[in-house]
Amino acid sequence: MLHTSPNEARMRHVLLLATGGIAVYKAVEVMRGLQKAGTDVRVVMTADACNMVGTATFEALSGHPVATSLYDYPDSSIPHIDLSAWADVAVVVPATANCIAKMAQGLADDVVSTTLLACEKPIVIAASMNTRMWNNPATRANVATLVSRGVHFVYPVCGALACGDTGAGKLADVSTIVDATLCVLAQATTEVPLEGKTVVITAGPTHEALDPVRYISNASSGKMGYALARAARNAGARVVLISGPVTREIPWGVNVIPVTSAAQMYDVTMAEFSQADAAILTAAVADYTPAHPADHKLKKAFEKLNQIDLVQTKDILASVSKQAQGRVVIGFAAETNNLLEHARLKLKQKGCTMIVANDVSCPDSSFGSDTNRVALVTSNNVEQLPTMSKDEVATHIVDKLVQLMSKDDDAAHMVDTFVQLMSEATE
Ligand code: CTP
Repeated sequence: MLHTSPNEARMRHVLLLATGGIAVYKAVEVMRGLQKAGTDVRVVMTADACNMVGTATFEALSGHPVATSLYDYPDSSIPHIDLSAWADVAVVVPATANCIAKMAQGLADDVVSTTLLACEKPIVIAASMNTRMWNNPATRANVATLVSRGVHFVYPVCGALACGDTGAGKLADVSTIVDATLCVLAQATTEVPLEGKTVVITAGPTHEALDPVRYISNASSGKMGYALARAARNAGARVVLISGPVTREIPWGVNVIPVTSAAQMYDVTMAEFSQADAAILTAAVADYTPAHPADHKLKKAFEKLNQIDLVQTKDILASVSKQAQGRVVIGFAAETNNLLEHARLKLKQKGCTMIVANDVSCPDSSFGSDTNRVALVTSNNVEQLPTMSKDEVATHIVDKLVQLMSKDDDAAHMVDTFVQLMSEATE
């Protein structure tokens, strides 16, 4: 048994295993990110990892001894068994080609590989190595084997590598590794009511071209839509995020489809919704687009832009709702006055299941702010939520989505049962 403190027993446990890649110094930042999210982190390191960064920093910041061998661990006499049992999730940062190969083969010849072999909890692997090693068919086959066994990967990204080469192999961003680990942890320790469901989400602004270098747009940051994508993903959904032009980090495990204009967003959303179980449309879609965008850059000396002819764009929310056939569709109403009145009107006009109403003239609810104060408006209810972070608002909205979807399932089940009873009665 591992010696633990009472405080440790109340927290979620992340076991961070570090192997000897040059990116191992980033494991400290990953640990900090995981701690900031309220988890307790313990660290296991190979001898090569210790050669590169040493244990003192991990020990001081985690508040626990670091396991560096199968013996001599102060909190347990069998650390590979006790630490793998203590963990709610294990994350390997960085995972070298050798570590991945050993996992695929089931080898256990050091404290990291032995702990991983004993680990029955979900495992996240943040791989990092030279491009040629990453592309080697042996590594590809090992990765495929581990994926088929349910191991989660944070794949390396392209960039300049420590060896001087450029290509795929660079450790993914710290924030992506933290995001992936917290997602896998959430799915392992809480319910995943959206497992097996596909949710389509739109986010961000659209750009409506005047010419190849100028466009009309709005101040949407995409924060709310991206937060919703992470919340729905954590609840187990397969998420398709159709994103207008924003500079946001792509959430791990989410299928992001970038679009530019309202017309593109309409086409992609309609196509994706045909295969989906629900939709949450947060995008600040342009309501108008230039009727005659120029195919060349307009020159102010010769082609005066005194007036722009505009045509209305298609309403994606209304069109999706029309095709919904009982599926839950959630829209947003960004208003500056008469919030609830406008929200109720939008609910009716667009024909969706729920409108999330927010007053974008308030500083705690504006485009780009980190918080939001919203009301959830359905045909028979208004639920005002307090000011919360956009991540917390997203979790509430996803909880509400789950409720609304289960009501639909109940209704569908009642209809099925009724039809069944009727047909039995007439037989
Ligand atoms: N929306 C949409 N397609 C459009 C315009 C809006 O799907 N062409 C969606 C938004 O994603 C949001 C909801 O409709 O979920 C409301 O958007 P909002 O900008 O608040 O309202 P509008 O419909 O544009 O109406 P108005 O500008 O008159 O408030």
